Amino acid sequence: MRKPAETDIPILDVIVERWSPRAFDPERKMTEADLVPLFEAARWAPSSSNSQPWRFVYAFRGEPAFDALLAAAVPGNQAWVKRASVLAYSVARLHSDSGRALWHNRHDTGMALGYLLLQATANGFAVHPFGGFDSEKVIAAAGIPSDFEPVAGLAIGYAGDPALLGEGAAREMEPRHRRKVAEFLFHGHWPQ
Ligand SMILES: Cc1cc2nc3c(=O)[nH]c(=O)nc-3n(C[C@H](O)[C@H](O)[C@H](O)COP(=O)(O)O)c2cc1C
Repeated sequence: MRKPAETDIPILDVIVERWSPRAFDPERKMTEADLVPLFEAARWAPSSSNSQPWRFVYAFRGEPAFDALLAAAVPGNQAWVKRASVLAYSVARLHSDSGRALWHNRHDTGMALGYLLLQATANGFAVHPFGGFDSEKVIAAAGIPSDFEPVAGLAIGYAGDPALLGEGAAREMEPRHRRKVAEFLFHGHWPQ
């Protein structure tokens, strides 16, 4: 299923085509080789002072680590994340080697995620980021060290039939909405 953005002017195809499905096809599995380009794309995101504060921890469905990472998601997210081929969490470093606070750590980690999302789209994969998870459970499940914080969960796989979601199928097919550019873009001064 596609849910292309209805843009006001033409933009890059990958941005038009990217969206966040909840229906993942449980029959189609990704491989390590499928994942490598996604993280290579994340690697080339810009970051404050080139600090590259992002880390990612992932597991394939069927591995014990997948179940442990899944259990850290809130129940409403577990219900659909469980069918993803890969479950990952983005993680941000808090301080540099010299002890300086990395104030843009979540921003930069989000940038890396953005690159990953677009590469995934170009390569035919679907990724649904999610913030509904228990950080402490992710930290415990993945053994994340003390100077790092989980930022977002990522369900990765192939988009599947919305019918997989049962009652949630209608929501899956709802149109995508965005505010107009004029509502968030201000030339020179905030509107009075
Ligand atoms: C940081 C972040 C947290 C999100 N948290 C959740 C979540 O917990 N559960 C969920 O179903 N979707 C979650 N989403 C997906 C958003 O709801 C989705 O991106 C948004 O509705 C726009 O839809 P689109 O990605 O299909 O364009 C999250 C997305 C981001 C970027």
